Amino acid sequence: MKTIKQLLTMKEQKEKISMITAYDYPSAKQAEQAKIDTILVGDSLGMVVLGYDSTVEVTMEDMIHHAKAVRRGAPESYVIVDVPFGAVGVDQTTDMKNAIQLYKETKANAVKIEGVHVELIKGCTQIGVPVVSHLGLTPQSVGITGYKLQAGSREEAEQLIEDAKNVEQAGAVMLVLEAIPSDLAAVISAQLTIPVIGIGAGKETDGQVLVYHDLLNYGSEHIAKFVKQYGDFSNGVEALKTYNQEVKSGAFPSEAHTYKKKVMGETDK
Ligand code: KIV
Repeated sequence: MKTIKQLLTMKEQKEKISMITAYDYPSAKQAEQAKIDTILVGDSLGMVVLGYDSTVEVTMEDMIHHAKAVRRGAPESYVIVDVPFGAVGVDQTTDMKNAIQLYKETKANAVKIEGVHVELIKGCTQIGVPVVSHLGLTPQSVGITGYKLQAGSREEAEQLIEDAKNVEQAGAVMLVLEAIPSDLAAVISAQLTIPVIGIGAGKETDGQVLVYHDLLNYGSEHIAKFVKQYGDFSNGVEALKTYNQEVKSGAFPSEAHTYKKKVMGETDK
């Protein structure tokens, strides 16, 4: 199984790290077969799979259910599971309890926590729960920030550099930076020893992450500027229309899709 040590070595050797989200058994299997370095069971699950307006409605149960399927599909991958909105930021005991439950029940390699939760990262690290930190645009806070570029001023950029150093010092094993200026992402990646994975953060980070459904044009409704589409699963509706027509016309199933064995005599009909 891929380890955090191997990902650290990749950073040291300037080998880019790939990450993709996955939410179920087949997408996880595809990611592992494609030899993508890391899989994130993101709480983007809420929007791209469950049809919610934001990630805010996603529950611990949702994350556990989907992350278990991903683990089954990608037994050799470094799998990270998102801690959903409301599961942390309560108090240290509750936050730790939720982080431990996610880690333990999903068999993920790490949990990802949005925002600067230094004490929680320390607490998790102390008891052996690896934490990936997520800064910049943190979708669980869009009610406050909106979906837009973060750290757009010199002051905010300096604050983000400090936050990144603080989460690293607290024990974070990796950092995701979302929707920030590329020159700032380059500085943070150079100043941190842990791998920094970007999404909408330019090419100078140690790696990149994209959402599976965005990358494959699979039902995503809002495609951000930073998304590149590598496949097109949008023709599913056409396939379903043809299936529908063929069932109604009797064209499906044909002989090719029918068992040949006969058990009834002509007279039974
Ligand atoms: O939930 C998610 O998919 C994420 C990525 C956008 C990094 O957090």
